[in-house]
Order: sequence, then C-alpha cells, then structure tokens
Amino acid sequence: MPGVLTDIDHVGIAVRDLDAAVAWYERTFGASVVRRERIESDGVDEALLAAGTSFIQLLTPFTDTSPLARHLERRGEGVHHVGYRVDDCAGALHAVRAAGARVVDEHPRTGSRGTTVAFLHPTGAFGTLIELVEVPATDVPDAG
Ligand code: CO
Repeated sequence: MPGVLTDIDHVGIAVRDLDAAVAWYERTFGASVVRRERIESDGVDEALLAAGTSFIQLLTPFTDTSPLARHLERRGEGVHHVGYRVDDCAGALHAVRAAGARVVDEHPRTGSRGTTVAFLHPTGAFGTLIELVEVPATDVPDAG
C-alpha cells in the first residue's frame, strides 16, 4: 500500500515578531516570502517562505485569544507543527483514524492559500502536532 504522505508541505514555526523572523530567514538563508496571509479562524498571521518545493511557515498570533498565543505563552517560540502533503485530505484523515491516530479535526477544513487541512493530536503522535495538507496543484512551488 502506498503511504498517504507525499511530501513535507511546510514546517510551522511560532514566533512573537513576524517581521523580525521574516528578516532573519531572508538574511540568513536568502529565503523569499512567497505569501503573507491572515487566517482569521486561527487568529494568526502567517508568512510563507519557499524552501525547495516546501515552505517555511512563520506564524504569529494577532489576538490574545488565538490558540497560538497560548502556545507561545506556555512553550515559547519554536517548531509548532509539521504539515505533510497528501493527495486527498478526507481520505488521508479517514486512513489515519482507522489506524488509531487521535485527531484534532474530525473533518477537513479550509487552511491558508486555499488548502484543505486536518490536524492530528500530538498525544499519541510522539509529541508532534501534525497537519495533513491537500494543496491545489497550482500552488506547489517549482523545484529549483
Ligand atoms: Co500549517
């Protein structure tokens, strides 16, 4: 059986100062911002920087009620989650639930840049918050 994960879509990193973090990634790695977006439903602002065919997703809360604000308070800055690309988010979610994984999202929902996403709970996943990401084909960056 082929696995459901086709690539690493992004590494989500929680930061307190989005502009400072973007500037650091630009200066240090020559990385470029390909998109900035406010995700109202999650209470976060994100900046996506290209890393090959994947992204670095810098995240900061724009409101104190954002779950990410709580996360920053309790855990500080750093890696927040890993987003794995899948061809079919609903199918992948069904498969991982059938395999016994605990999920945060019972059903796929809309993520940033028109993706369809679902989160798995870090409990039972060896401490990592995992996001399944179905990307519109036109939004995968060109390799090289
Ligand atoms: Co993400």
